[in-house]
Amino acid sequence: MNKNIVCIGAGYIGGPTMAVIAKMNPDRKVYVCDINKKRIAAWNSWNYELPIYEPGLVDVVKEVRGKNLFFTTDIKSAVKKCDIVFVGVNTPTKMFGRGAGRASDLQFWEATAREIKGYADGDKIVVEKSTLPVRTAAAMEAILNEGRGKREEGRGGEGPRFTVLSNPEFLAEGTAIKDLLSPDRVLIGGPETPEGKAAVGEICDIYAGKDGKWVARSKILTTNVWSAELTKLAANAMLAQRVSSVNALAGLCEATGADIDEVARVMGADRRIGSKFLKAGPGFGGSCFKKDVLNLVYLCETFGLHTAAEYWSGVIKMNDHQQERIVSRLFKAMFNTLANKKIAMFGFAFKADTGDTRETPAGYVARLLNEEHVRLAITDPKAIENGKRDLAGLDGITWEKDPYKAAKDADAVLLMTDWKEYPALDWGKVFKSMRKPALVFDTRNCLDAAALKRLGFRVLNVGK
Ligand SMILES: NC(=O)c1ccc[n+]([C@@H]2O[C@H](COP(=O)([O-])OP(=O)(O)OC[C@H]3O[C@@H](n4cnc5c(N)ncnc54)[C@H](O)[C@@H]3O)[C@@H](O)[C@H]2O)c1
Repeated sequence: MNKNIVCIGAGYIGGPTMAVIAKMNPDRKVYVCDINKKRIAAWNSWNYELPIYEPGLVDVVKEVRGKNLFFTTDIKSAVKKCDIVFVGVNTPTKMFGRGAGRASDLQFWEATAREIKGYADGDKIVVEKSTLPVRTAAAMEAILNEGRGKREEGRGGEGPRFTVLSNPEFLAEGTAIKDLLSPDRVLIGGPETPEGKAAVGEICDIYAGKDGKWVARSKILTTNVWSAELTKLAANAMLAQRVSSVNALAGLCEATGADIDEVARVMGADRRIGSKFLKAGPGFGGSCFKKDVLNLVYLCETFGLHTAAEYWSGVIKMNDHQQERIVSRLFKAMFNTLANKKIAMFGFAFKADTGDTRETPAGYVARLLNEEHVRLAITDPKAIENGKRDLAGLDGITWEKDPYKAAKDADAVLLMTDWKEYPALDWGKVFKSMRKPALVFDTRNCLDAAALKRLGFRVLNVGK
């Protein structure tokens, strides 16, 4: 077995994960492949205009690209060169047929498995990096090992042998490099057979890094394959559920005069609850939470666990409701008519420090405002290109790099993403340029509301 690694899928997961694996394993060659030529060209661009934005990513890529990290569309030769194959292709929510709107669409995943089988000329460890429904590894094994017989039983044994492991990724966009360099834990699930155990050992060695300088062995957790697959869905569902829980309380705070930031601070001081992920806001976004909770709902339904399915569905329902509530409150605060008013949306990315706009709350809110015939001027430091693509075809939307220009003559500023640039703006200048009365709706509670009020703004927050 050689030590080289190939990852199929050069997206938000494949790119950063493999860049850090290459950095921490200078003695291994790491190939990252994709069918998307444009994406691979961007990863290889001379001026490091990478296809995704992540703080610290460019520095890691500069350090290892061309040394032991290679981006390529030549999947065939990369698979031949490597005995360890990570698969990080997309697994979006299926939008057709059985399970539409809930189940994972596994067509890219299965296509990849068939590709690996077609190109492999030796035994491979295949590692699920994508988030997948529990028991996908069984389907994968069936496709990969179909027709080869069992070598150890003396019946056949022709062709390469594939061992399928699950190594879900827990990084968060915006802090991906930090999370990868110093993860809370790494999870590797494998079959409880001698081959499975040996394969798990190989993947543990990658995360330990060259000379054991990366992840401490105590943080590399191993389980059976099904636990590993399910843990990723469960962890995302728990995180999403915390966001929905705190947002459910935020509405009650608004109605009663309680302050969600105070409530969250005191709740979070209880070590059983903990302080992380207790920030009220516009709800969760990103490519994973909604898709993974929906997938969990579908799995529960499939196994006849209807009450559990209903419980997890509530997490999504609450999240959608939070975004609808933002528009309702804006409507009420702007005298029950939004038509032809200009609203400056500050931030379109689903969170700060990323250009990713998949499932961004800002997108949903922008569509609702568009239905009200609002003139929307959207600004974002990193997400304008993605945002334009998401909202293509909608009239009445302009995009501005400069937040001051976006706010000029606006009736309201609607802050949707907590970019650190926004609290640092000259809000006096913003106020002067706006139509009066000027409103700020800070859905992230990240601005100094008292200072804004002193400047003359009307201010709305979430949960207070
Ligand atoms: N984005 C995250 O923060 C995150 C975190 C943890 C887990 N995940 C999981 O990782 C997986 C990938 O997510 P992502 O955000 O990187 O998606 P992505 O869409 O950014 O990247 C996936 C890439 O796979 C490529 N691809 C698809 N089919 C292919 C094939 N047959 N051969 C070669 N390339 C192919 C696509 O062209 C695309 O570039 C998903 O299952 C997701 O749930 C994502």
